[in-house]
Amino acid sequence: MSRIETLIGDMTLAEKLGQLTMTAAGHTVTGPVIAGDSTEAIRAGTIGNLLNLVGAAPVREMQRLAVEESRLGIPLLIGLDVVHGHRTLFPVPLAEAGLFDPQIWERTARAAAAAAAADGLAMTFAPMLDVARDPRWGRGVEGPGEDPWLGARFAEAKVRGFQGASLGAADALAAVAKHYCAYGAVCAGRDYASVDISERTLHEVYLPPFAAAVAAGVAAVMPAFTDLAGMPMTAHAGLLRDCLRGRLGFDGVIVSDYNAIAELVRHGVAADLVEAASLALAAGVDIDMMSNAYRGALPAALGRGLVTMAQIDAAVRRVLDLKQRLGLFDDPYRRGATPERAEALAARRRLARAVGARAIVMLKNERATLPLAAPLRRLAIVGPLSSPEADMRGPWWAAGEVQDQVGVVAGFRAALPAAEILQAAGVAIESEDTHGMAEALQLCGAADAIILCLGEAAAMSGEAACRAHLGLPGRQRQFAHAVLEQARARGKPVVVLLFSGRPLVVPWLFEQADAVLAVWFLGSEAGHAIADVVTGAVSPSARTAISWPRAVGQIPIFFGQRRGGRPADPKDHYTSKYLDLPNEPQFAFGHGLTYGHFTLSNLRVTPPLVTPGEALQIQVDVVNDGARAAQETLFLFVHDKVASLARPLLELRGFERITLAPGERGSVRFLLPAPELRILGPDLTPVFEPGEIEILVGPCAERARLLVETIRLSA
Ligand code: NOJ
Repeated sequence: MSRIETLIGDMTLAEKLGQLTMTAAGHTVTGPVIAGDSTEAIRAGTIGNLLNLVGAAPVREMQRLAVEESRLGIPLLIGLDVVHGHRTLFPVPLAEAGLFDPQIWERTARAAAAAAAADGLAMTFAPMLDVARDPRWGRGVEGPGEDPWLGARFAEAKVRGFQGASLGAADALAAVAKHYCAYGAVCAGRDYASVDISERTLHEVYLPPFAAAVAAGVAAVMPAFTDLAGMPMTAHAGLLRDCLRGRLGFDGVIVSDYNAIAELVRHGVAADLVEAASLALAAGVDIDMMSNAYRGALPAALGRGLVTMAQIDAAVRRVLDLKQRLGLFDDPYRRGATPERAEALAARRRLARAVGARAIVMLKNERATLPLAAPLRRLAIVGPLSSPEADMRGPWWAAGEVQDQVGVVAGFRAALPAAEILQAAGVAIESEDTHGMAEALQLCGAADAIILCLGEAAAMSGEAACRAHLGLPGRQRQFAHAVLEQARARGKPVVVLLFSGRPLVVPWLFEQADAVLAVWFLGSEAGHAIADVVTGAVSPSARTAISWPRAVGQIPIFFGQRRGGRPADPKDHYTSKYLDLPNEPQFAFGHGLTYGHFTLSNLRVTPPLVTPGEALQIQVDVVNDGARAAQETLFLFVHDKVASLARPLLELRGFERITLAPGERGSVRFLLPAPELRILGPDLTPVFEPGEIEILVGPCAERARLLVETIRLSA
């Protein structure tokens, strides 16, 4: 008999339920603390998994309790939200998605995994794969943006990166694809609210990133807190058991979200914890995170005949199997055994800086304001985001310490050692207090150039951080007006740094400022990365992975919309448009300027008639007719003109990057296998529908800027 079957045969019910339980831990000056003081439960084998324990020593101590002092010696599985870095933080995922570079997505996940594993951890609650089309929802910052195809590529890269070549390696983490599924579609962009979308949208938009994660071998999946048309995901047998485990073939562990099983009672689908635990187990949830429902209520559920021992054993088997695959039985201390070498830390900081610079989206750059012309004798760095290092970390900072973050001022001091750097906040991020404005304006008056740091605090996006107004909070608008006006009158350049975990709706700012950089939350090396781009050491290259609205009233806004029967026509009143605003976003998906200037020509697509077994070769010529070297990103979209169901106007099917010196020409190639042209037919299974398909290539999802060729798909 295998080790796992022998163990299951030996386990008491309480020990089995311990393996299905995950409890939060923390660490204070006096040592590790566990919710409800459960160290005894670890010894008793009735808690088998932990989250939120940070540091190799406390992790080892808890593991020792389980392995050496519990009856069966089963190692703990210990996880943390290592979403975009562990001690060294990388840009938030929404920003990193904008690199459109799967190799980088994988590298940062690999680096984060190695750092977290060096702290003894074996699981990360990442990647977050929720398609996000509503910037009011704070959690869009944690994931790859608005597009399902992009989300799928992001998913594969992140799973590969976190898990590495073998889950058993000392530097590998089990990844958890979350939050399954359609969490991003919460009503009115309000976190935890109900979701009600069509089956088609579920399958076309929200499921593909999870399908890709499963195909990439993701070890675990976390159901969303939310309900879908009344059925909470934590109890959704149709989507967890039938779709995820059945159709998608997922054979790993399903770990509930925090307290989500207990919340089935509040959802109103379970009368008590016993029913809640039974529903979750029957749907296929293996690990109960923080509800104490499995430990507390499954014995009663067995008594009531609501669950069977076979269901419990199946869940225990999956958890033990994951522990085995992670190598925890062979050597429970292999992670966290050796402290990282200084070179590894330095390499990670270099990676964070390079990726940080590459995640900056240059939204606007008039009068060639950027890069700032040297020499700069005196630079004023003003605004409420000019000082707080803590905010550089973004909303998921894992083990990132405030003192290890490089803020804007420190970044410019290092980049411009000969310059005098003046700094003043002017106003706070959120308060109504304006008494600091005068001093900040005075500093601006004394400088050659001004860096105006505006935006949200890190805690204004992420979980439970939704906003109904997406403008600048507090008195920042008033402050920005004053700075911009004074600088204009005195002919001084102003570069706006916009910090946020979402697109901010600030059309007035895009009108008034000459240069605006979306700097999201770039992580530990934020200040250096920003200075690299502003001074011209690095040419900006990122693109926004989410459509940037002009007004909250346009939300949800995304490029993959269908045309409808009355598409917008300015000459026809009875068409689909607003009376008071254009339909188009402020910036389309994929928008982002560089220090170069690129012109595309000569789109070639062969063969003109493609059969299901073939692939399309797509090529386009590019020239950098700007004055500086830069990297251009090109997107490949398709549009099925006539199908059995109306198709989105643009569907993303590829992205490629090319770096060209001034005056240099090159060409970009895409290979598009015909199966990528399939659509989900009326019964939601993929079909080839013969007919004309537009192939579109260009720098963003703005149709007018795309080159188009039409091909035919034959059956
Ligand atoms: C709740 C969040 O929804 C989830 O993303 C996270 O992994 C857990 N808390 C654990 O921190």
